Amino acid sequence: MTQTVFEEVKQQLIKEPKKWLITGCAGFIGSNLLEDLLKLDQTIVGLDNFSTGFAHNLEEVKSLVTAEQWQRFTMIEGDIRDLATCKKACQDIDYVLHQAALGSVPRSIENPIATNQSNIDGFLNMLVAGKNAKVKSFTYAASSSTYGDHPALPKIEENIGQPLSPYAVTKLVNELYAKVFNRTYGFNSIGLRYFNVFGKRQNPNGAYAAVIPKWIAAMIKNEPVYINGDGETSRDFCYIANAIQANILAATTQNPEAINQIYNVAVGDQTTLNILYQAIQENLSRNYSHVNESKPVYRDFRAGDVRHSLADVSKAKNLLGYAPNYRIREGLKEAMTWYLGSISVD
Ligand SMILES: NC(=O)c1ccc[n+]([C@@H]2O[C@H](COP(=O)([O-])OP(=O)(O)OC[C@H]3O[C@@H](n4cnc5c(N)ncnc54)[C@H](O)[C@@H]3O)[C@@H](O)[C@H]2O)c1
Repeated sequence: MTQTVFEEVKQQLIKEPKKWLITGCAGFIGSNLLEDLLKLDQTIVGLDNFSTGFAHNLEEVKSLVTAEQWQRFTMIEGDIRDLATCKKACQDIDYVLHQAALGSVPRSIENPIATNQSNIDGFLNMLVAGKNAKVKSFTYAASSSTYGDHPALPKIEENIGQPLSPYAVTKLVNELYAKVFNRTYGFNSIGLRYFNVFGKRQNPNGAYAAVIPKWIAAMIKNEPVYINGDGETSRDFCYIANAIQANILAATTQNPEAINQIYNVAVGDQTTLNILYQAIQENLSRNYSHVNESKPVYRDFRAGDVRHSLADVSKAKNLLGYAPNYRIREGLKEAMTWYLGSISVD
């Protein structure tokens, strides 16, 4: 029944297309939202400063949609730290999907000021711009890092601990600002606490790359794969298609109880890093025989990381009709096809 909710919403969007703003649209999640919404014939404005996003992500989306669909996309190269840019981007927008931020716990430990500026100043600018433009809905990327040191598993939206990194502080502050904007100005929003999202176009390169693309690239290139800690650290890995579904459901929900809420966006599956290693190895060994022999290199735990993460996704299921239809293995299989086509062994 829940799958039908998403299918119905998509049919409705095709019948009555809307105008969306995707911030961070040159990044991983943003470019996937862009692709799927263009395929539903929506009109999209994108905003990105290309700090961690790439023009080649947009080029790839262009190659995957029709010329007519691509014409419905307008790109603003700009920065959410600039209020005027945010106001311009929000003009005549129905639904905002605010994804732009500096991700990564280690990056925020290295440079907390830069993270704060994009993730808090930029977020506040977007809230003000969205409110002034009277957008119909405002959905933003929150984070599972907000659970911090709270020990309970699975994670339930209402029970959070102390943040463990500057990045986690910024994502918690986003939620606080969103709540206050509702109290003070009656401005509605929905926060989606993503849990380790993965899939095509997630950047495998650089010091701050996420674990799945980093390991896939390292295994393909026969480079060492490092596991921080003993490998028993666990995460609820969420395939990108599930995150897209959650965004579209949140943006369009007609359920008054669903608005001004925070939702876990994950699957409800706990996977350790050791199991993840094996799963990626299994997938890649079909194409690269050297991967069969590879073994991970264990090193120290990383500062700021939470030990275990597992979501209870029943709130999103009940209030939004969210039905995560990809578990980690199905997601990895799809993502792998893309990585195999885009990473070269040099
Ligand atoms: N990927 C995950 O697992 C995950 C988990 C929890 C939360 N999130 C959140 O989801 C959102 C998207 O993450 P992602 O994984 O796609 O990361 P990403 O780095 O691929 O995308 C972020 C995009 O935002 C843009 N951006 C950053 N600062 C900006 C600024 N000041 N002005 C304009 N554009 C700016 C970047 O250039 C990039 O294109 C972020 O808010 C992130 O914190 C992601």
